[in-house]
Amino acid sequence: MAEPARLDWNRVMAQHNDEILVLAATGKTGRRVVERLRAAGARVRPVSRSSTIRFDWSDRTTWAPALTGAGTVYLVAPEEPEPVADFVEQAVAAGVRRFVALSGRGIEHIDEHFGQGMAAAEAAVRDSGVEWTILRANNFLQNFTEDLWHAPLLTGRLGLPVDGILEPLIDVEDIAAVAATVLVEPGHTGRIYELSGPRRLSYPEAVAIIAAAAGREIRFEELTPEQYRAELRAEGWDEVGVAAMDSLFAVMRAGHLSDLADGVQRVLGRAPTSIEEWAGKAAATGIWSRP
Ligand SMILES: NC(=O)c1ccc[n+]([C@@H]2O[C@H](COP(=O)([O-])OP(=O)(O)OC[C@H]3O[C@@H](n4cnc5c(N)ncnc54)[C@H](OP(=O)(O)O)[C@@H]3O)[C@@H](O)[C@H]2O)c1
Repeated sequence: MAEPARLDWNRVMAQHNDEILVLAATGKTGRRVVERLRAAGARVRPVSRSSTIRFDWSDRTTWAPALTGAGTVYLVAPEEPEPVADFVEQAVAAGVRRFVALSGRGIEHIDEHFGQGMAAAEAAVRDSGVEWTILRANNFLQNFTEDLWHAPLLTGRLGLPVDGILEPLIDVEDIAAVAATVLVEPGHTGRIYELSGPRRLSYPEAVAIIAAAAGREIRFEELTPEQYRAELRAEGWDEVGVAAMDSLFAVMRAGHLSDLADGVQRVLGRAPTSIEEWAGKAAATGIWSRP
């Protein structure tokens, strides 16, 4: 009698685990990754603490329900590194066969105060034994519309301790387009893509472009690290947060985020979006005109 065909567990799991689990799905990158995957017809499971299927890094009982049926994970790390390796291990045990992890440029130069979650995510996916791709992005242009630098722009003054450095800031739409592509396309396994915008900008120049697009006066003020720490404390930041920002800006001032990178071109076959194009669209939404 012929021996029964052996089960190919990788194939079986791949058939049953065909959803793409998107973490941080309400965030700047995750939201756009979900939109792009859905538009491409992929089966997507968006999760965060506020999704129908809840996922909370700090509540391990939420991990298994989120992972059920997922074959691929878009991994946006938490700030704390502690849960990341366990989550990746559990994901692989549940049938995940591919990770795309979001990280930051300059990650090789960080200290213990900043980016440890991203570093843990890089290490965990590299050790996972399954397919992985790492996306190391420059600072997002959307930090000026959806994050820390938005409120200061509304007041007409943004102060940062950048010491005249240049940085090719990136449109999150480009990161999402890259992520959505490598989540579904073969050929990106074991690669680290460095993702930057198309041009190195000084922060005063970036703010001037935004001000011109917004039709408002907004000035950039160079701060010393001491002045910046004092401003953060005055805004109510705790010492952990102050140290994290201090550490990020030190890596930036050392020039570790300053070079142009070719990841967008390599994955998408086109140049990244310019700040002028991005700022024009953002200004048209009224994002810098609100009281
Ligand atoms: N901003 C930049 O310029 C930049 C540059 C390079 C890399 N990065 C990295 O990008 C990552 C942030 O990604 P993002 O900007 O797309 O997100 P984001 O806009 O900062 O949003 C955070 C997301 O995480 C979710 N979240 C928060 N706490 C959570 C928890 N305990 N468990 C599960 N989900 C939680 C939030 O949703 P709920 O509130 O609904 O849970 C939200 O979807 C960070 O690792 C950051 O270091 C940022």
